[in-house]
Amino acid sequence: MIVYNMKTLTKVLLASVTVALIAIKWNTPTFNAESLRGARVLVTGASTGIGEQMAYHYARFGAQIVITARRENVLQQVAEKCLSMGAQKALYISADMSSDTDPERVVDFALDHLGGLDHLVLNHIGSSPFSMWEGDVEHLRWLMKVNFFSYAQMAWKALPSLEQSKGSLIVVSSLLGKMTIPFVAPYVSTKFALNGFFGTLVHELAMKSSNVSISTCTLGLIDTDSAMEKVKDISHVPAYPASEAALNIIKTGATRQRELFYPWFVYIVTLFRDFLPGARDYLIQMSYN
Ligand SMILES: NC(=O)c1ccc[n+]([C@@H]2O[C@H](COP(=O)([O-])OP(=O)(O)OC[C@H]3O[C@@H](n4cnc5c(N)ncnc54)[C@H](OP(=O)(O)O)[C@@H]3O)[C@@H](O)[C@H]2O)c1
Ligand SMILES: *[C@@H]1O[C@H](CO)[C@@H](O)[C@H](O)[C@H]1NC(C)=O
Repeated sequence: MIVYNMKTLTKVLLASVTVALIAIKWNTPTFNAESLRGARVLVTGASTGIGEQMAYHYARFGAQIVITARRENVLQQVAEKCLSMGAQKALYISADMSSDTDPERVVDFALDHLGGLDHLVLNHIGSSPFSMWEGDVEHLRWLMKVNFFSYAQMAWKALPSLEQSKGSLIVVSSLLGKMTIPFVAPYVSTKFALNGFFGTLVHELAMKSSNVSISTCTLGLIDTDSAMEKVKDISHVPAYPASEAALNIIKTGATRQRELFYPWFVYIVTLFRDFLPGARDYLIQMSYN
C-alpha cells in the first residue's frame, strides 16, 4: 500500500515538474540577436572564464563593449579578439573591485566612452580557497568587497543610465547563492548576499515603475579553469561549458527574464532544497566522504 502510494506520489511529482517546465519554456520570450547590435554593454570579470565568453558572444552580435578585470594585458587581447569577431567597439579598463573607488570609476568610464549603458553584466569574483573555514575574517571582508559591495555600487551608479535606455542589469550568481556545501563559506556568503540584495531591489524598482530589468543567473558547475582547479578532487560533479553558460546569461538579460537556471536541473535542485532539510544535509555530507 505504502509502495503503491510512493509510486503515485512520484508520478504526480514528475508530472507536475514536467508541466511546470513546459509552462516555463512556453512563456520564455524569444531572443532576438538583432536587439544586441550596437547595444552598449559593460561586462566585469571579462579577462577569462564565463566573462570572457560573454564578451565574445556580445562581439558576434555586434555590440559596443567595455570589459574590465585587473590584468590589463589579458584584457587587451580579449578586446582585440572582440573587434575581430564583429564588436562595433571594444574598450577595456583595468580595475580592482576590492577598491572603494574602482567600481564607480569603471561605470563612469563606460558611460563616458559609450554614451550610456544598455546592459550591465556583473560577473567578476575574487579568488577564494576551497577549504574549511578557519576564521580568516580579513579574507571574508575582502571577498565581500569584491563579490558583493562592488556589485551594489556599480548597479546603483549605472541605474540612471539604465532607466533612460530601458536597460538590463544582469547579476551572475550561483546555486551556492541558494544552498550550501562545505569548504566555500566566504564564497557562499557573498552569493547569498547578492541574491538577497538584488532580490530586494527587484521589488523596489517595481514600486518605482522602473524601466530596468534585473536578471539573476543561478549557475551550476561551469568548466572554467578556476572552477575546475577547485573541484579537481571531487570529480563526480558534472561541469557545463562556459561558452553555453555565457550565451544563456546574455539571452536572459536581453529578454529581460527575472531568473536563469543553468544547467536546467539546477532549477529542480532549488525546488527541492527545503523539502526535507535533514535528508538534504545528510546527502550533502555523505557525498564528501
Ligand atoms: N565556474 C563555475 O563553476 C561557476 C559556478 C557558479 C557560478 N559561477 C559564477 O560565474 C561568474 C564567473 O565565474 P568564472 O568561473 O568565469 O570566474 P573566473 O574564471 O575565475 O574569472 C573571474 C574574473 O574576475 C576577475 N577578477 C578576479 N579578481 C578581481 C578583482 N579583485 N577585481 C576585478 N576583477 C577581478 C578575473 O580577472 P583578473 O584576474 O584579471 O582580475 C576574471 O576575469 C562568477 O560570478 C561565479 O561566481 C561560476
Ligand atoms: C523610463 O523611461 C522614460 C523615458 O522613456 C523616462 O521618462 C522615465 O522617467 C523612466 N522611468 C524612470 C523610473 O526613470
